[in-house]
This record gives sequence, structure tokens and C-alpha cells, in this order.
Amino acid sequence: MLTREQVLGRVQPIVKAAAKGTAVRDIMVKELSVSMTVLVPDQESQPVMEKALQAAIADLGAERVHVRFRPASEPASGAAEEASGRAASTGQSNEPVKGHGAGMEVHPLLGPDSTVEFVAVASGKGGVGKSTVTVNLAAALARLGQRVGIIDADIYGFSVPDMMGIEERPDIVDERVIPIERFGVKVISMGFFVEDNSPVVWRGPMLGKMLRNFFAEIEWGELDYMLLDLPPGTGDVALDIHQMIPQSKEIIVTTPHATAAFVAARAGAMALKTKHAILGVVENMSYYETKDGERDYVFGRGGGARLAETLHTDLLGQIPLGAPDNHPSEPDFSPSVYKEDSSTGQLYTQMAQQLIRKRSGSM
Ligand SMILES: Nc1ncnc2c1ncn2[C@@H]1O[C@H](COP(=O)(O)OP(=O)(O)OP(=O)(O)O)[C@@H](O)[C@H]1O
Ligand SMILES: [Mg+2]
Repeated sequence: MLTREQVLGRVQPIVKAAAKGTAVRDIMVKELSVSMTVLVPDQESQPVMEKALQAAIADLGAERVHVRFRPASEPASGAAEEASGRAASTGQSNEPVKGHGAGMEVHPLLGPDSTVEFVAVASGKGGVGKSTVTVNLAAALARLGQRVGIIDADIYGFSVPDMMGIEERPDIVDERVIPIERFGVKVISMGFFVEDNSPVVWRGPMLGKMLRNFFAEIEWGELDYMLLDLPPGTGDVALDIHQMIPQSKEIIVTTPHATAAFVAARAGAMALKTKHAILGVVENMSYYETKDGERDYVFGRGGGARLAETLHTDLLGQIPLGAPDNHPSEPDFSPSVYKEDSSTGQLYTQMAQQLIRKRSGSM
């Protein structure tokens, strides 16, 4: 087991020996994965620093080391961090903003003046319905007049385009990618940039880079909500998201089974540990409704409510089993987005209303 203290012990001397103004932030250790942000006063020292840190941490037995650099003069988005001489400020235009002198860019959506509500949809386990919940919540928020984007952050297992019935590829205008709009939601996914569904094999740093590109090179326009469909578990991408978007809130998806909820609690624990607010729990595949309206609790009962209690948050909704009643012959066909007037569609609308209420209550 690798601890944060061990990592800090190795990192501190290196940082101390580096140029004035160098500092380390957000060290995160998850089993044998380590990630951190290093503030550097100038870009020149970066490659040397990176090598030194990689070597020192690998020496501790880490299998994955992910070092992210940020100009020292740029304000941090983490609450406890102090900013001095912040980078030119932004509004919600789409021009990336240069950090002071160092040539690193912060996307306005991620910047200190951004008013977008980031919501990461996570779970401990695969296949519980994160992507389904993401696309349906996004569609429901859009129905309620919100400006919504989705980042399909499941870089290896992207599924959002298929689930929403997106077949086209994004246009590129002035070297910027225009997200695909579907059901009023702007969508970006690795799936748009991979030929013939070929598997994505990048590791470590490439992931973070791809995620950053999902901001930097995409013409998002103004948004109220940005939903992030996370890959299962608490791995690299989840860590990257936690680091890159510390202001992101989380929704945890689980099935009603006690074991599933227990596993999902890990994703929740990670959110709490990294100080990400949890907006609530969605229990998916909660029951099967028979023709005469009776509920059959196929996968057990109560997991969602118990998880919400454990995480001191709300159970936002319980979604029954059952695919949407959509047919490929319909013009707006999608395999996974429930229609507004279906009973499940209405459950999603109610969840979206809760999110909007929570947001206006906390502002
Ligand atoms: N309420 C539901 N009723 C019936 N099928 C569902 C329901 N929710 C999700 N599914 C189906 O279950 C499968 C897994 O759902 P989904 O892909 O949303 O899960 P996930 O958590 O995103 O999975 P992964 O961990 O692989 O990303 C999909 O085939 C989806 O269509
Ligand atoms: Mg998924």
C-alpha cells in the first residue's frame, strides 16, 4: 500500500529544490496510482520536474504516476488554495485563456468565473446504468429549458453516442469541434474520434490529455449543466476528473442490491474524501412493474436508500427496469432515451427538477 504521506515525502524535497514559486497540490493516491498537480513558475522547468517526480514516485512502487502542471500564477479552483495574480479572466466565451507567461491554458468553463454546474455520474460497479442515467437526466434538464452538455468521459467504453442514437460526427469550424446536439443536449465522446469502433488503448497521461481536449478544443458555448459520464469504478479517469474539476458534484448510481450499494459506497467515499459534494443517489433497475401494476423487486430492495443514508445525501429517484418504448422507424430514434411522456421519462423529469431546485437553493 502506498500512502499520500510517502508520496509527499518524496515529492517535497524535489519541489523545494526547484525554482521559487514551485508548489505541489492535490496529491491523490489510489492503490498504486498517484496523481498530483504541480504549480510551476515557468514552463522550462517542467520536463525535468516531471522526470524527477515520475522517477521518485515510481521508486515507491507506484504503477501509474500522473503529474499535471499549472502555471504558479494561475488561481487554483480548489477551495483552500490561494491565488495571486490570476490569469486574465473570462466570462463564458469559448476562447481558452492563457495562464501568465507559462503558455498553459484554462478553459473558461473550468475557470473561476464559470457558472456551469458540473455533475459527474459515478458508480462503484460497471453496468448499473451510469450512462443511461446521464443521457436521460441530460435530456430531462434540456426539456426543462436548461443548457446542457455531456462529456462521455468513459474513454475506453464510450457509449453515449449509441445510446442517444447519434450517428453523425461533429463538424470542425475554425479548428474547433462543434459538439453534436441531440434532444437539446450537446454531446462530446471519444466515440466521435475513433474509427470503426476500434478499441482505445491509451494509458495514463493520454487520458488526462484527452479530457483536457474535451474542454479546450470543443465549442461548448454557454451551458448551465455539464454532465460527465464516468467509467465504472474509482480508477484513473475518475481521479482525473476529481482533480481537473474539483468543483464538480456527483451523482452515484446503484442497483437496489445490498452488495451493489456497498460497492457504490466506495465511489461515494472517494467523492467525499476528495471533497466533492454528492447531489444524491439514483437507484436504477429498482423493480419491474407487471402489466397489472404490481412491483416485482427483482434485484432486492433498499440499496439506494441505504446508500443515500450512508452518504448523508438524498435518494433522487428509483428507476424501474424496462427499456424505452422507442422504435428505429421513428425520426428521433434513440435506444436509451425515455420519452418525456413515458412513466420513466417523467421520473427523470422529476429528478431534473430536484437538481434545479438544489442548485437554486445553494446559490
Ligand atoms: N432501468 C433499466 N432497465 C432496463 N435496462 C437498463 C436500465 N438501465 C440500464 N439498462 C441497460 O443496462 C445496460 C447497462 O447500462 P449502462 O450502459 O447505462 O450502464 P453503465 O453503468 O454506464 O455501464 P458501464 O459501467 O459499462 O459504463 C445497458 O444495456 C442499458 O441499456
Ligand atoms: Mg457507461
